[in-house]
Amino acid sequence: MAYPYRVYEELRREAPVSYFEPTGQWLISRHADVNALLRDRRLGRSYLHVAGHEEFGRPAEPEFQEPFWRVIRAGMLDVEPPVHTRLRRLVSKAFTPRMVESLRPRVRAMAGELVDAYVEKGGGDLIAEVAEPLPVTVIAEMLGIPDGDRHLLRPWSADICGMYELNPTLEAQHTAVRAATEFSDYLKALAADRRANPGDDLVSALTQIGELTEDELVGTCVLLLNAGHEATVNVTGNGWWSLFRNPAELARLRADRSLLPTAVEELMRWDTPLQMFERWVLEDIEVHGVRIPRGSEVALLFGSANRDPEVFADPDRLDVGRADNPHISFGAGIHFCLGAPLARIELAESFGALLDRTSKLELREEPEWKPGYVIRGLHALNLTATPA
Ligand code: HEM
Repeated sequence: MAYPYRVYEELRREAPVSYFEPTGQWLISRHADVNALLRDRRLGRSYLHVAGHEEFGRPAEPEFQEPFWRVIRAGMLDVEPPVHTRLRRLVSKAFTPRMVESLRPRVRAMAGELVDAYVEKGGGDLIAEVAEPLPVTVIAEMLGIPDGDRHLLRPWSADICGMYELNPTLEAQHTAVRAATEFSDYLKALAADRRANPGDDLVSALTQIGELTEDELVGTCVLLLNAGHEATVNVTGNGWWSLFRNPAELARLRADRSLLPTAVEELMRWDTPLQMFERWVLEDIEVHGVRIPRGSEVALLFGSANRDPEVFADPDRLDVGRADNPHISFGAGIHFCLGAPLARIELAESFGALLDRTSKLELREEPEWKPGYVIRGLHALNLTATPA
């Protein structure tokens, strides 16, 4: 959708809780409500730990999807406590702010190399040449995926994400299942190898944890590889596109590089890369006097929460120096993004390298949005780069 923000404005004002017939979901559009429901344990990312499909009035998934859900449901994002608590504890050791900060020099060097090559050619598609390779390489290196196999990751991840759009086509579903199966087979083979010959990487470290089942190990790696780049790519593309539409803010950032950290947060707020997350209602709840019964599904509209005037002064204005910015793009509560410190480093380093190494970046053509609403990103962003 080119610009969902007008619709959100009306929802927040007129109907902060509204039932949306086409998807059978309750839409929640205000920041305070989205934030509170993300933290509310009466809701869950899954219901399968407390009830079956039948009790929640949902059809069981078609059998052909089993290999897909087996992988996805073994990752921490799709489980609830106590399994979530255990998985998150095991994996979070690799993502402490200190551990992640130690990666900064490597991220900076990689961003520098990618941007040098890009500027040397006079520019090109920023998404394919800088936005994608940076986070894909960082997370692949962390996990220890061999260099020669990295080209496989992006297509697998993109195909898997196809299942998360509203009403995916049958073809998209089959493509997602095939990708999950191939990815999973690949990781099982890699883990077997690392179990025997451990290296200094996350896959090796995970194979040494006796508590982790093989499905959990594979599910964790798939989650880290997908979550570890998909949104970062889109924030880079959407972020530059936002700056081109607000040239005074781009000029302000060029003139004062100390604004980089607030600019990254603001770009994530202003054009939200993951527009919506869903939750299942495990016990009846009430929001603004509306009772939402157990078994319902709520759609938390992150893109709307991030433009809520109750929380953000002048919310439709892009302000790269915005100081008070409690945006919700990394979520909240127990599933708060594990990779947020890493994403922040990657974004600051890539925006910083592009600003440092160019005197000018110009749009060659109007970019096109990828289809789909939940994951918001551009197909390509073609630019002309003038070296600094
Ligand atoms: C700008 C980039 C990113 C954005 C906007 C983002 C956003 C999010 C959001 C909104 C959630 C919570 C979803 C929910 O509550 O339903 C989440 C969870 C997660 N993210 Fe990120 N993410 C980003 C980058 C990363 C990176 C770089 C990594 C890893 C290297 C990562 C790993 C994870 C993991 C493992 C979870 C699941 C946490 C849990 O269930 O406890 N993310 N992310």
